[in-house]
Amino acid sequence: MDTNIIGRPLNRKDGHLKVTGAALYATDHQREGQAYACAAHSEIASGELLAVDATATLALPGVLTVLHALDAPKLFRCPESLNVGERRPPFEDNRIYYAGQILALVVAESFEVARHGAQLLELKYKEDEQVSLDFERDLREGKIEQTDASSRGQAAEAFDRGHARIDATYETPVGIHCAMELHGAVAWWEEERLVVEDSTQWVVGQSKALANTFGLPESDVEVRSRFVGGGFGGKLFLWSPSILAAEASRVVGRPVQFSLDRRGQFTSAGHRPRTRQRLRLAADEDGHLVSLRHEAVNQTSQVDQYEESCPDVSASLYQCPNVSISQGVVRSHVGTPTPMRGPGETPGLWALESALDELAVELKIDPLELRLRNVAQRDEAKDLPWSINLHERCLREAAARFGWSQRNPEVGSMREGSEVIGWGIASTSWAAMRSSATVTVDLLQSGKARISCATQDIGTGTYTVFAQMVKELTGLPFDSIEVRIGNSRLPTGPISGGSMVTATVVPAIAEATEKAIDALLDLAVAEDGPFAGSDKKSLRMVGGKLCSRSGGASRSIGEVLESKRLSFVSGKGEASPGEEQERYSFRSFGAHCAEVRWDAGLGRLRVSRVTSVIDSGRIINLDTASNQVYGAIVMGVGMALLEESVYDKRTGRPVTDNLADYLVPVMTDCPEIDLSLLNVPDPHIGKLGARGIGEVGLTGVAPAIGNAVYHATGKRIRTLPIRMEDLMG
Ligand code: MOS
Repeated sequence: MDTNIIGRPLNRKDGHLKVTGAALYATDHQREGQAYACAAHSEIASGELLAVDATATLALPGVLTVLHALDAPKLFRCPESLNVGERRPPFEDNRIYYAGQILALVVAESFEVARHGAQLLELKYKEDEQVSLDFERDLREGKIEQTDASSRGQAAEAFDRGHARIDATYETPVGIHCAMELHGAVAWWEEERLVVEDSTQWVVGQSKALANTFGLPESDVEVRSRFVGGGFGGKLFLWSPSILAAEASRVVGRPVQFSLDRRGQFTSAGHRPRTRQRLRLAADEDGHLVSLRHEAVNQTSQVDQYEESCPDVSASLYQCPNVSISQGVVRSHVGTPTPMRGPGETPGLWALESALDELAVELKIDPLELRLRNVAQRDEAKDLPWSINLHERCLREAAARFGWSQRNPEVGSMREGSEVIGWGIASTSWAAMRSSATVTVDLLQSGKARISCATQDIGTGTYTVFAQMVKELTGLPFDSIEVRIGNSRLPTGPISGGSMVTATVVPAIAEATEKAIDALLDLAVAEDGPFAGSDKKSLRMVGGKLCSRSGGASRSIGEVLESKRLSFVSGKGEASPGEEQERYSFRSFGAHCAEVRWDAGLGRLRVSRVTSVIDSGRIINLDTASNQVYGAIVMGVGMALLEESVYDKRTGRPVTDNLADYLVPVMTDCPEIDLSLLNVPDPHIGKLGARGIGEVGLTGVAPAIGNAVYHATGKRIRTLPIRMEDLMG
């Protein structure tokens, strides 16, 4: 497809609204008569709530009501078929499963009174003696529930015969999404109908889940989310804030705003779980993998079995005849984990790509070369050909751009002033998924176009790429294209998760736009105008107008509709994964090269440079796509060097429960980034060949940095985050 607009770096359609503060996020919404809620969280990690003394709270002027686990209307669970944050709704019973669990909610005239009221509540507990908070101890004691395992060939035997072998264990800590916008909502009831201004990555799923929770028909719930201040997986599924805003509103009969505070965000709205992963790799003399075993365990909560599927990527990324992978969980007194950007593969590749680097050292083969020798020619796990696989090209181009050939393989050999320089490489990868979408595109008498789909823009550029698609096909100016998303009542669209909105919806927009144009052409050839009786095929839409392919007269959308007294014509597009899914395996690939600088005198480690080459199919908007990868690389720096939620083993409370103690990268931590997106359309994934982008930018960053740290210092750090104290001495 020849394009004018697709692939160009167009400015964000919602950029002006955002920079002027006009974009309203969930709790920015103010309703007439709105009340405010504030939560009281459990201070203990395991036990029972025995009593709630709300005397002082209820005596505060402005307090409307107190809801708590011993005195709250029953809410329903969602069916297993529907993903939610926590299966157990708030206040289901008086059991306490983790510190930070919401036990009571104070509703008041103002936020300040609600917060003061929550502080005055006296909660009486019975604390259990048995508390599981010690992951290492649980692992030592073998409290692992196996959840998944698969294999091909004879991994154990092949390992024993290997020429070079690695057997190492890697760990990743609890990670917190740390979206700038907290989980929060404003909810109200219109008769029996529930309306929620929410912050969610999935308006459709959120409305289904709320319907189940409150026993309502789905048509009676409307979830709106026009702008989302960051999700990263933390807002994929329903969490308690939306439920509690709706429940409080039902009780007080007024709109209610409720938001977690930053501290609550660290305990009660999901996290990337802690993992421990054992990697055993063996290769022959030439560096071909002959055996790969990846066994992972992650921590989950008492109430939900969340699996962080770290080893899955290891079964596909490289070719290897003998593979076995397994997954297990350990129950603990923490909140329920949830997907966080690149779930599974991000911690999984920390282990695999670090282990490969160790294998390269063992084999005395360049780590780039080792990867090139093992690139998978087909997806051996699924036994399918790739739709396209540019992994090798990504590795070669990243290395070339970075200057890899200048690398002296000797540890600690590259120096500049007081700094030792280390260079590391890692592959990056993410499964390329599609889901289903229905889209309508209307061409209006005003000369504008309108796109409708119940998906949402979580900050990634969805408004922009959708409008770009219609602009491409109609030639209408960008400003004349209205994008209506972020409402569950629109035609059903996908979750903003798994990096799949663009790949899912763009083909449906194309179809809907073409049908709308076709409907307009039907009118144009039937009306008493310049195209009366023409063959539709001789006409096309250019610059927002119908005109003859041979030139001459043109007719605007408004003129055609005006002549028929119509307000608009519509086209509907539907897209869902088809039989191509049975014939090909879809995956995006890339490579990251990282440069670190270690100043032993100062105890300072910096990531100074990252070069990334990513293949994620056709790029729709160069700026918004690049923006995703820049953000992912910065997130990878955080994962490698800074981020960890530390729990106090005695109380189960995170001690790093704020943005001063839970370290995320700031501008001075950001490396110089050199990014290249290959922009090669995937021949099989759908009309434009666009695969997702975002998660693929993150998955291999931390191991590229870890491998660079080894090259600089000779220290192989297998537990994230890498700290300066790990490198000293
Ligand atoms: Mo992503 S973890 O699928 O929001």
